[in-house]
Amino acid sequence: MSAETLPQRPVLLTGASGALGRVLTRALGEAGWTLRLTDRVPFPEPLPEGARFQLADLEDGPAILRLAEGCGTILHFGGISVELPFETVIGPNIRGLYHAYEAARREGARMVFASSNHAIGFHERSAVLDDACALRPDGYYGLSKAYGELMGGLYRDKHGVESVFLRIGSCFPEPTDARMLATWLSYGDMTRLVMRATLAPSLGPDGTIVIWGASNNSRMTWWGRDGRDTIAWAPQDSADPYTQALEAKTSGNPVVERYQGGGFTGLDYSRGNSGKS
Ligand SMILES: NC(=O)c1ccc[n+]([C@@H]2O[C@H](COP(=O)([O-])OP(=O)(O)OC[C@H]3O[C@@H](n4cnc5c(N)ncnc54)[C@H](O)[C@@H]3O)[C@@H](O)[C@H]2O)c1
Repeated sequence: MSAETLPQRPVLLTGASGALGRVLTRALGEAGWTLRLTDRVPFPEPLPEGARFQLADLEDGPAILRLAEGCGTILHFGGISVELPFETVIGPNIRGLYHAYEAARREGARMVFASSNHAIGFHERSAVLDDACALRPDGYYGLSKAYGELMGGLYRDKHGVESVFLRIGSCFPEPTDARMLATWLSYGDMTRLVMRATLAPSLGPDGTIVIWGASNNSRMTWWGRDGRDTIAWAPQDSADPYTQALEAKTSGNPVVERYQGGGFTGLDYSRGNSGKS
């Protein structure tokens, strides 16, 4: 492996036992990366060579600081990944995120943060957003991701910590409904994105960049300019072959179909109409 494909220092991956964490562990392990893995539940598969796993709760600050010792990048994928009550989200996604950022500050590490389209989910589907668009979270989960991006801004301005904010669309083995014809991010494209976010020598003058995490889908007309050229990433896969099978698979809910965040926007929605007033 050349210096271009291997990070210079070990990489800490939080949320390693989760769906995307396992995909990344396999792929980055195969690529020969030295990985420190952590999650609050055990890692359910054999560990690749060069990987160490340690159980820890993101809410345990000292444990996260110890885990990050010597690491040059933190891939922060741990936390609540769906819409849940505020009190459930706040510990893992806000306090846990703070611990991850404190670790990045101490180690001089780059943060690659698994943000989400739900940080901007209340933009309408007719809008074309760029990386400077307003944050419009569609629930407490999306709010925690928006807060994460703001925290990244604070740690950049105050401590010089670099961040890549991955606004992931729908990262699953394959798309399963009409919305995902726009938002789907293949596992391969996600893995290459994380690799480039880690290996890119510079994130440009600002030190933080946003990337829209979607594959090369014809229906992805919602998301425009972002920082992908800075890290030399371009998606290679596409949801297009699933169009015929999925285009009729919509929710039938006018709120859900109106906004980019889809199903999360309709959860506990009480505005009393289709969001028109
Ligand atoms: N999969 C997607 O389509 C998608 C889309 C947008 C954003 N994301 C983000 O990407 C990341 C990974 O997503 P995923 O689909 O693998 O989710 P996942 O739920 O499968 O994995 C999250 C992991 O975080 C761990 N975790 C939760 N709370 C924790 C805590 N307090 N301490 C330690 N570990 C804790 C869980 O045990 C789990 O293994 C998440 O941050 C998610 O919000 C995913």
